[in-house]
This record gives sequence, C-alpha cells and structure tokens, in this order.
Amino acid sequence: MKVSVVGTGYVGLISGVCLADTGHQVACVDIDDEKVQKINRMDATIHEAGLGELLERNVGNRFCATTDLRKAVQDSELTLIAVGTPFHGDAIDLKYVSAVAHQIGEVLRDKRDYHVVVVKSTVVPGTTDNVVLPILEETSGKKAGPDFGVGMNPEFLREGEAIEDFNFPDRIVLGGIDSRTHDALGALYSAFKETDILKTSNKTAEMIKYTANSLLATMISFSNEIGNLCTALGGVDVSEVMHGVHLDKRLTPILENKRRIWPRFTTYLEAGCGFGGSCFPKDVKALIAHGKKKGQPMHLLESVIEINDGQPQKILDLLAKYVPEPQGRKIAVLGLAFKPGTDDMRESPAIPVVKKLQAKGANIIAYDPVAENEARKIFGNNHIVYKKSVSDTISGAAAVLLITRWQEFADLPKLLNAMDPVPVLIDGRRMIPKDNVRRYDGIGM
Ligand code: UDX
Repeated sequence: MKVSVVGTGYVGLISGVCLADTGHQVACVDIDDEKVQKINRMDATIHEAGLGELLERNVGNRFCATTDLRKAVQDSELTLIAVGTPFHGDAIDLKYVSAVAHQIGEVLRDKRDYHVVVVKSTVVPGTTDNVVLPILEETSGKKAGPDFGVGMNPEFLREGEAIEDFNFPDRIVLGGIDSRTHDALGALYSAFKETDILKTSNKTAEMIKYTANSLLATMISFSNEIGNLCTALGGVDVSEVMHGVHLDKRLTPILENKRRIWPRFTTYLEAGCGFGGSCFPKDVKALIAHGKKKGQPMHLLESVIEINDGQPQKILDLLAKYVPEPQGRKIAVLGLAFKPGTDDMRESPAIPVVKKLQAKGANIIAYDPVAENEARKIFGNNHIVYKKSVSDTISGAAAVLLITRWQEFADLPKLLNAMDPVPVLIDGRRMIPKDNVRRYDGIGM
C-alpha cells in the first residue's frame, strides 16, 4: 500500500519506517524541515534501538520524509495521523490533530480515489468520530463512508523498545466506521499473520488504549502505595511482598519447569520513585478530565496520579535519614531519563529530585548513559556536574541515588563496597539486591 504518516515523533517515525520495512511505500510528513532532512540523511532523530539500521534499509526506496502534506496524502491510499496530543491542566489538547485533519480534508476535496484517514495519536474516546470525522467532511465537502474511510489504530509502543513492540505486538487494534475501512487497515497489517487483530469501533479502539495505559499506571501506583505502607511499618520489604503475591496463578499463569517464577519487572508491580514519560501521566490525566466532563468522577485514577506525584519525595525522605543537611554535600544521581533505553526526560522523577537538591545547595554529581543533553536543558549547571561513568559519579559521594534502572548500574555493589567510606545507596528502583551493598536503603522497605 501507499501510506502517508503525519507526524514524525516517537509514534509516527517508528510506525512509518516499520510499515515500510514490511513492504509498504511510506511518506512521513512533518512541518520541521530540519527533522525531515535529518531523516532523509538516515540520521535517527530519536533515541530508539535499531532505528538507524531501519532508516538505512528503507530511506530512498520504500520510505521518505517530507514537509509536503498535500503531495503525501494525494499519492497515498491511507493516512495515519500521529501528531502530539498534549495535556494542559484540564483537558487533552486536540489542536494538532484538528489542524492536520483540516489539511487532510482539503486534499481529499480534490482527490478522486477512495482514501482512508486513521488516527494513531492517543485521543480520548469519541474524538475520531466526533472531532476528526466532521472536520474531514466539512473541509472535503465529501461524506465519510461512501467517499472516504475513517479509522483509529492506537499504538502500544514503549519508548526504548518501540521497534520491538511494533514488529512483535501483543495485539493490533483496528477501529473503523465501516468494513471498507477495516479492510484497508487489515491490508496495512497484512504482514502480521501471527498477531491477534481486533476489529472494532473507533470509540472502543480509543478506550482500549486509554484503559491499557491507565491499568499499567494503576498497577504501578498500587505497588507504590503498598511500598509506602511497608516503609511505615518497618521490617517489611515490598519487593519480597510482591514476590509472594506473584506466586498466585492469576498473576503468574505461566509455569517454568512446573514452578511459578516471579516475572520481575514485567508486571508493572514494581514499587519505585514513580512513573514518568510522555504517556502514563498525560493519558491518565486526560482520561480523568474526560470522565469528569462526562459527569463520571474518576476517583481511582485520581489517586493513581496523587500517589505517583508523591513518589519522588520518598527518595529525598530516605536521603534525609543519612544526609540530614545536603548543603555542600556531594550527592551522586545515577539515571536521569524517565526509564532506561531512552534519553526522554519528560515527567522523569529525576526532575523534582534534582531540582529540590539544587535548591538545598547540594553538590550534585549526575550520570545518565544517554540523557545528559536533555538533562542540561532542564537543570542547567547550577549545583550540578555531569560525569561519563558510574565510578566517576559516585567517587567521594556521601550518598548515591539510583533513579533510572539502567542495566550498567548492576555493577554498583562492587564499586560501592570498594569505597572508603562507603556511601549509602538509595535505590529508587529497587534494582540492586539489598544484601549485596554494605549501606543500602530503598523505596518500600
Ligand atoms: C507506556 C506503555 O507501556 C506503552 O504500552 C504505551 O504505548 C506508552 O506508554 P512508556 O511510557 O514508554 O510506555 O514506558 P514504560 O516502560 O511502560 O514505563 C513507564 C514508566 O513506568 C517508567 O517511568 C517506568 O520506570 C515506570 N515503571 C514501570 C514503574 O515504576 N514500575 C513498573 O513496574 C514498571
């Protein structure tokens, strides 16, 4: 198929180049000419494992980037809308989705062939049918259904693992106004013969996306609430609690050699310093706001956000036990990105932790394998220096804060135990086995 994708961020670029890799002809559209030129030079514009190779394999034959939306839509059969849907205060912001829908509608006005417009951006339930579809009809002067199709195809991509998640999805959800739209979307994913494909309405597809993210966020805040109680109780470790809980067949249905093996770090029941990123916080808040707008209070999800907002402070509360006065003290911060595998700092728990320590006059030594450049835009150079290795970062520190679970931090016990004096490790992700470190504290124990 000939496909156009509007928006070359995490979702648009990964979806576009992966679809090209399955054999489609894809044009990714963006208003940022510099980004377009970079992509066409096969330079990865985002930090995603495997993106460089994908671009090299597809740019110039099945894939290109362009600023010319009109030509991209005219020359394609299906357009994916993959622009941002930020959350501002009390509602999701649909200005980018609406603007792109207008532009696509104007092209459809002059287009004779049948075309399918598909929303891939995360939008609250009802948006595709009640906002995007009317704009397309008004601006094209045509009728959805007979003249063009309208669908909704949510993404389930994790940053840092987005290409893996696109190429090996757990499920593909295809919303559509009619069977013709569903058939076009079926053809788009024809290469995914091993994957469950769910054909449904646009509104249900939107709701599946929000519910999936809200459930994962709820599980994280649940583990954090239990972890906070473990801390208050004393003598109970949330990691051991979650191990025991996971031996329930309903949580760990898969057996290995007839034994239930705790699926650590895969069930989103890991207590820590909180979830960040561009999805969980935004999507949960957007769904809360949407529920309220529909007269349906969202008590549970409000608590999910409230608990999460309080988690970064737990790191500082633990630090205060060992360094009650951080002013002038050397505090090492390991990990700045909101999760490993990405340089994305959006809503990272490192932001409130570092900013509060800067305000207290601590001497922060920070290290993140890839997020340093993003971090400098946020923290500047006040009371913080950036290092290029774990050992340089922790050398001489009074305390070490682990904020992001980068795999290279697994060697911490060896490095810490060789120091004199040994700094306390505050494990914000419960990554390091507590018995392997001479001075250890962590969330939820
Ligand atoms: C998430 C969803 O997983 C993905 O399906 C959706 O399409 C987009 O949003 P992402 O935000 O990229 O993906 O990252 P994810 O790996 O899900 O982690 C989100 C946050 O939760 C991270 O800050 C991580 O540290 C935190 N987390 C994750 C926990 O605190 N505890 C856990 O057990 C798991």
